[in-house]
Order: sequence, then structure tokens, then C-alpha cells
Amino acid sequence: MFGVDFMKISVNDAKNLKDIDGMVLAYWQAEDAARRPELPLWASGSIDTAEFSGAIGQMVMLRSPASHRIDASASTSSSAPPARCVLLLGLGMPAKTNSHAYVNAYAQGFGVLKNARCKTIALQISEWPGAQNAGNHAQLSFPHLVGRIASQVMMADYAFDKYKQVDKNSPKASVDEVVLMVPAAHAAAAHASVSRGVKIGEAANLTRMMQNEPGNVATPSWIAAQAAQTARAAKNGRLSMRVIGKSELARLKMNAMLAVAGGSSQEPKLVIMQYRGAPGRKEWDTAIVGKGVTFDSGGISIKPSSKMDEMKFDKSGACAVIGILSGCASLGLPLNVVGVAALVENMPGGHAYRPGDIVTACNGTTIEVLNTDAEGRLVLADALAYAAKHYSPNTMIDLATLTGACAVALGDLASGILSDDDEMVDELVAAGERSGERVWRLPMWPEYDEKVKSEIAVVKNMGEPGNAGVTAGASFLKPFAGEGRWAHIDIAGTAYGSKPRGGMSAGGYGTGVRLVLEYLSQYKTSKKNRN
Ligand code: BES
Ligand code: MN
Ligand code: ZN
Repeated sequence: MFGVDFMKISVNDAKNLKDIDGMVLAYWQAEDAARRPELPLWASGSIDTAEFSGAIGQMVMLRSPASHRIDASASTSSSAPPARCVLLLGLGMPAKTNSHAYVNAYAQGFGVLKNARCKTIALQISEWPGAQNAGNHAQLSFPHLVGRIASQVMMADYAFDKYKQVDKNSPKASVDEVVLMVPAAHAAAAHASVSRGVKIGEAANLTRMMQNEPGNVATPSWIAAQAAQTARAAKNGRLSMRVIGKSELARLKMNAMLAVAGGSSQEPKLVIMQYRGAPGRKEWDTAIVGKGVTFDSGGISIKPSSKMDEMKFDKSGACAVIGILSGCASLGLPLNVVGVAALVENMPGGHAYRPGDIVTACNGTTIEVLNTDAEGRLVLADALAYAAKHYSPNTMIDLATLTGACAVALGDLASGILSDDDEMVDELVAAGERSGERVWRLPMWPEYDEKVKSEIAVVKNMGEPGNAGVTAGASFLKPFAGEGRWAHIDIAGTAYGSKPRGGMSAGGYGTGVRLVLEYLSQYKTSKKNRN
């Protein structure tokens, strides 16, 4: 990825175990509370058995001077510690832990060792006894979990610190290399899934880098330039992009998107990225459409000032689209995927659109604007209609920080998914469970559509306040998504946060990238082709 130094991740690399600074030793917790993890001899003397039970996420750091250490490649159970910092990490009880907690624990452990200024870090990845029987982990093989750890360690290594001044007393931590230690029988399979996991982590970090840039930097034009650079960097010639500016948007009659952009001095941009991973087939397997409001002030229906700064993250869906397309190219997925990032800034001003305005989207559907803060659905209306008309994709997914109501309903642990297509929902929910980015279904029954019917236009951009706000957003989008298979994913609660999450630093979390890349990796083209 451009602008960021590479941290190398390898599997079972004994050569690099010779001078490891930091090591994670992971332990399962016993069902019987009296039974404690069996620690290596050198550790058992220095910690009290009451201190470490192996509970999920538990960490105890043991430090030792160089003269006391052994070569980490020798053995982890020998009589001397293998590294300057050894972190004992609890994984919880095998039958009760879930894959998210398991992967998060490793990523957090990595973070602790990074903060301890370890340059070379080894993670001992413990097999999961009985994982194959553990309900929704049925499909999660050990190599798959190792790949997820690789993604999440990449993501834990990223921090948005480019605007911070270097503190001479406390130089920035940076890790050169991570070695994942897995049982020898799994090494070959783990190798492949780690290289895949690293690519997915890089794609998510690209998205996070864009998410985190503030509204005065990450304008629609700036994000379009990042997409151009991403397409150039893909090198394999299968990823291309083009940008539609204001005059062409007007020619295409994308008046809903243009209405939102009206109050801003920043020109709106519609970025189209095409990934042709199956050049032999002419149809488009999937379109991914993203809301890219680079700053959402609310417009004339202006937002309260508290936390308004967070609305720089209202472009997260569009940033995810660019990360996903970049990931499709680096993974070399055998699919044709088009990404549409709809970029505008929502500001008040003399040219701003107003409550009461009626605008006509590019598919001819009229929209009564009741609240200029419900701008995301207007932007998506034109972007979805554009993708449906020009690409007729077999499936379409949109990602949007659309409603505060979604954050109220699901909090920060799951994105909302709304679709009439049960199969798409099942596949995306499964991809969420496999990727670590959970999604949860909310209803989109036609009865709800009444709530967004307008007396004077086809639809209005707001339902009843305080009443099924997430569904109202999806109901509004329906007439623009065409007749094909479509799922709407509301990432308002999950896209960013003010706290570290799963080893990641606060800010943008790259939400949607791992989810959709997992969905696309499992995509069954034969069954889906309509063309
Ligand atoms: N970008 C916001 C939604 C949002 C809120 C995302 C909080 C992340 C955190 C969206 O444009 C918006 O303002 N939605 C309104 C819709 C309402 C006016 C119908 C909302 O959720 O209040
Ligand atoms: Mn808004
Ligand atoms: Zn918004």
C-alpha cells in the first residue's frame, strides 16, 4: 500500500525466531476453575496461579533481561524465557469463545508488544480444541483463523498519526516483522491464508487511511485521486477507474446527488471502478455502491454541534468501495466487480437544497425533501440507479452510514443488513461470521414502504421520526435499486468509533472491506448468472 511501510508477516520462520523481541504465548482456560494453564517452567515461578486463568483477553506481561533468554526457535517450554517480552494471553474456554474474541485477543496482544517497542514479534497460534463442533464456527478451519489473525494484526499495526508531532522522549513504535507460529501440520495451508489475510488487511487499511482524513483534506476530488492511485497501483491491468464530474452528472440527470452537493464549494464526483477478474465473461457479477458524504453538516436542517466532527466519517461507505476494489485486484478474484463511490459534501449555504424541495433522480423517480440531513439516501438513489442501469449487475450491495437509528438498534458490534433476497442475506451474514465483521438482518417488508410515500412526489426522504428509521432508509432506496438482487448494509454504528476495537486504534475501522471481500471470495457465479 502506498504511503505506508510494510510490516512483514510470515509463518513458522525459524530464522527470524532467533532474535525475537516479543512473543505471545496463548492459553485456553480450563472448564474446571481449579485447573490453571500449564505455564513454562521459567514463567510458573514468577506469577501467582491466581493471576492468570486463561480467561478470554487476559494478559500478563513477563519481561526478562537478555542474559536470561534462550533462542526462541529452540523451545517455548524450556527453562528460560524466549524473548525480552513474553505476553501470556488468555483465549477463554474452547467451547465458549467465539472466533471474533479469539482473533481480537491475538491482535490486542500484538498491540501490547508493539507498545513495548518490540520490533520482531512472534505469535504462538493455539489450535482450537473442538472448534469444528462449536456451532457457528463449523466452517472456520484453523488456517482460516490464522488468516484472520494476519488481517487483524495488519489492522492493529495501522494508526492515523501523520499529523502528530514526533515526541523525542517517546519515539513512535514500529514493528518490522511478525512470525505466526502454527503447528507444523498446518504450516502449508496457513501460508496461503496468511498471504490472503495480509492483502485483506492492507485493503482495509487503505479504506481506514481515507476515512480518517478530515473533511478539509478528504474532499470528493481528493478521494477520487486516491481511487485513481489505487487503480494505478493494482498493476495487473484489471482495475480501471473513471470519474464523473458535475457537468456530466447534470447531463446524466443525477439531480438528487447534485441537490445534496449544492451547498458546498466542493465539486461532487462519482467514481466508477471496474475490476475485470473474469475477462472471458461479459456480465458484471456484483456492483458495490458506497455513500461518500465527505462531511455531513446536515445542510439547512443543520446538525447540533456536539460530535458534528464525527461526520467526516460519513464517507465511510465510499472509502470501503475503494478498499474492496483494491482487494479484489490484489486477491485476483475471478469475478467482474464494479464499484461506485458517490462523493459529495453536505453543507448549508445560498446554493444549498432546502426542506420542501422536490428533486428528480436519474431514473425519473421524484423525491420530496423533508430534511436535508437525510442526504445519504438521495446520493445513493442516483448512484444505485446509475449502477443498475449501466451495469445490470447480478447482485448489488450498498454500504452507507445511513441512519443514526441503526447505531441505536445494533450498537457498534453489527451492521444492519436489509434485503428481500434471503439467499444474499444468508451469504452476507455467513461472510460476516467468517470475516469478523458481523451483520444482522432488519426487516424490509413492503408494508414499511408506506412510511416513505409522499403526498406530492413518489417518495419522501424521511419516514416517521423515531419509527423504524433503518427500514425507512431501505424502503426509500428500493425504487432506485432496480429489479435485480440487492442488499443494503447500514454501517452507521460500525464504520468508526472513538475507542480502540479488536486491536485497532480509534477512528475508521475499514468496515465492509473484510465482509465484502469474504462474500466475494465465496461467490458462486454459476448459480447467480442471469445473463
Ligand atoms: N450520516 C447520518 C447518519 C449517521 C448518524 C451516521 C450518526 C453515523 C452516526 C445521516 O445522513 C443522517 O443524518 N441521518 C438522519 C436521517 C433522518 C433525518 C431521517 C438520522 O439518522 O438522524
Ligand atoms: Mn445526514
Ligand atoms: Zn449522512
